[in-house]
Amino acid sequence: MKKQNYILGIDTSCDETSMAILDENKNVISNIISSQVDIHKQYGGVIPELASRKHMEALYVVLNEALDKAGITLNDLTGIAITNTPGLVGCLLTGLSFAKSLAYSLNIPFTTVHHLKGHLFSPFIENPLSYPFMGVVVSGGHTSIYYVKSFHDIELIGQTVDDAAGEAYDKVAKLLNLGYPGGPIIDKLAQSGSKKFRFTRAQVKRGKQYLSFSGLKTSISHLVKKNDISDEEFCKNLAASFQYEVVEAIIEKVNFLLEKYPAEIISLSGGVACNSELRKKLSKEAHQKNIKLYYPKPILCTDNGAMIGYVGAFQLDHGDHSAWDCNAFASLSF
Ligand code: KG4
Ligand code: ZN
Repeated sequence: MKKQNYILGIDTSCDETSMAILDENKNVISNIISSQVDIHKQYGGVIPELASRKHMEALYVVLNEALDKAGITLNDLTGIAITNTPGLVGCLLTGLSFAKSLAYSLNIPFTTVHHLKGHLFSPFIENPLSYPFMGVVVSGGHTSIYYVKSFHDIELIGQTVDDAAGEAYDKVAKLLNLGYPGGPIIDKLAQSGSKKFRFTRAQVKRGKQYLSFSGLKTSISHLVKKNDISDEEFCKNLAASFQYEVVEAIIEKVNFLLEKYPAEIISLSGGVACNSELRKKLSKEAHQKNIKLYYPKPILCTDNGAMIGYVGAFQLDHGDHSAWDCNAFASLSF
């Protein structure tokens, strides 16, 4: 009887240890995420060295859980996909070393996956994949827009010149003393506030395809200095105003880029793709333009092994096997 293919996808790029098993049709049959958020939130952000150590503790536990949930054993695995860039280099190395040793001991191939490619393709885990599409990746570390003609033909067509959207959410939440990560907290708070404050949208000199969020964050820090952050109304209204500006800025960029890069499909991904207002407004915009908008369910928006396994499965199909001496990199484009 022919052996079934099962791919293990691993992501340890930041503060989540995640592993997923995909079957040979690239269906996700388990996706385990062990978050370190409770450890890092007391510091208001991720402490890299601590994160690496926590990954070391979690790796075996998460692997066993992923295998159990999928109903398979280690010997059923036929390939491994592992994020090796971008991310916190110590964290990436824990996952990469683990993946290499597992692949070596099982005598199966492994393939390194670019974390952003994982996010970019994540909407297609549960939607039909077809090309070309415009991919909007909005995460804690990146805000980038791509035009994707095929799996290997991907053009970066727009990006932020400073803070990523998620980073801006996290920084504003810190200014308001709301906790970490800031995105979901501000998203919820914004729903009961009104957009009382207006901000001037940054015009990046380098070109209209660029975004900038650092000026917005500075304007907010000035407002925070002049107001009382224990005033709930102020915080709600500021959250609503900030969220409005972030979402509008992203949509403005998408509309601008659609003129040069017409697409029938937009994929929205990354942690900020969980944002209720971004989902709603971009859906409306896409609907008016007769464009299909795909975004993953929330658990597949933030970091996860499933998206790495999904992209890795295509790479393994193409015979793209990584070498034993491959390395991890804090940042690398693709
Ligand atoms: O993709 P991700 O898990 O990690 C990176 O690769 O960076 O994204 C995490 C980011 C955090 O900055 C978090 O605040 C943001 O996603 N985020 C949100 C929401 N949920 C998570 N931002 C806005 N609204 C949300 N609902
Ligand atoms: Zn990510």
